[in-house]
Amino acid sequence: MTTAPAAAATAPAGTAPGEGDLRVAVLGVGMMGADHVRRLATRVVGARPVVVADAYAATAHRVAAAHDGVRVAQDPLAAIADPEVDAVVVATPGSTHEELVLACLERGLPVLCEKPLTTEPDSSLRLVHAERATGRRLVQVGFMRRFDEEYAALRALVAGGELGAPLMLHCAHRNAAVPAHFDSEMVVLDSLVHEVDATRFLLGEEVTAITVLHPTSRRDAPAGLSDPTFALLETAGGRLVDVELSVSTGVGYEVRTELVAEGGTAMIGLDRGPLVATSTGRRGRAIPPTFVERFAQAYDTEVQVWADAARAGTTDGPTTWDGYAAAAVCAAGVASLRGGGVRVEVELDEEAR
Ligand SMILES: NC(=O)c1ccc[n+]([C@@H]2O[C@H](COP(=O)([O-])OP(=O)(O)OC[C@H]3O[C@@H](n4cnc5c(N)ncnc54)[C@H](O)[C@@H]3O)[C@@H](O)[C@H]2O)c1
Repeated sequence: MTTAPAAAATAPAGTAPGEGDLRVAVLGVGMMGADHVRRLATRVVGARPVVVADAYAATAHRVAAAHDGVRVAQDPLAAIADPEVDAVVVATPGSTHEELVLACLERGLPVLCEKPLTTEPDSSLRLVHAERATGRRLVQVGFMRRFDEEYAALRALVAGGELGAPLMLHCAHRNAAVPAHFDSEMVVLDSLVHEVDATRFLLGEEVTAITVLHPTSRRDAPAGLSDPTFALLETAGGRLVDVELSVSTGVGYEVRTELVAEGGTAMIGLDRGPLVATSTGRRGRAIPPTFVERFAQAYDTEVQVWADAARAGTTDGPTTWDGYAAAAVCAAGVASLRGGGVRVEVELDEEAR
């Protein structure tokens, strides 16, 4: 299982394009893709965006116009085939990832594929095999929490053995609001997937079974959504991980993980920044509104680590296997939900590891 790469240096805002820069195509320039274009243009050292593509040409043109030297390709496959592209960021919806990552593998291009690697385990497994057939490591999956300084520190604490053997994790993942199309299965596929990867990263072992339950829903939950969701993950080493997922709190973005180990506990995700006292008679820290603010450093480090490896023709960080394992756990989670909260075991094709 991949461990945390060392944090890479990040350039100051306004990094000038250099001769040997990695020339990057960004596919899908909605929220995440546009953010990655900005990051590549202004903060990542040794890489720059040169081509963007999006199903909506107007979106692609708007994003390209905001940065010097960025062209619009007719479609994502044309961007991948462009001879002036050295590496690719895939930030289209998950259902399109298999085709686009395969096209990158065929051209031998390093790719940063946003999570999920694909939306179900079979297609993720096909990518594990396709990458292996190239004889190179070419795919990094966008599980950015591995690059967050707090997650990396917690991982180091576990690996260093300072707190003794880990026993449990308590996780909370709360969003103020989600788009109207978000349903209860998307909570598992889009939100829980991060906790699944964090569990595998922090504990260094696979998730072997999952149970997903719905307690009484908040009365003002959006239509089609039972909120909150509770998940129980069991790991190969017999450890338990409980996860509360709330996606319509109206409060802010809160992600918290508490490790319970034989020799103590450790918690990450408490609010950071200045402790402010106001005329309301309360003292507190600001809650980040979304994951963009909460994980800003993690996204920057993730893309820098990817660019550094891609310049050497390879990739670092979360692998296709990590993407496949997470997809398998989430598929089992959806099966648990559909079965009314039954316990579902996770089956991984160990021969592909
Ligand atoms: N790592 C994270 O924290 C994180 C956070 C949010 C989203 N994501 C992931 O990033 C990806 C994009 O999510 P988003 O929130 O930016 O979505 P979005 O809807 O804002 O953007 C997706 C963009 O892709 C375009 N698109 C759709 N199909 C396309 C196709 N076939 N070819 C080219 N362009 C196409 C859309 O027009 C849109 O502009 C998803 O995989 C999502 O799960 C990751």
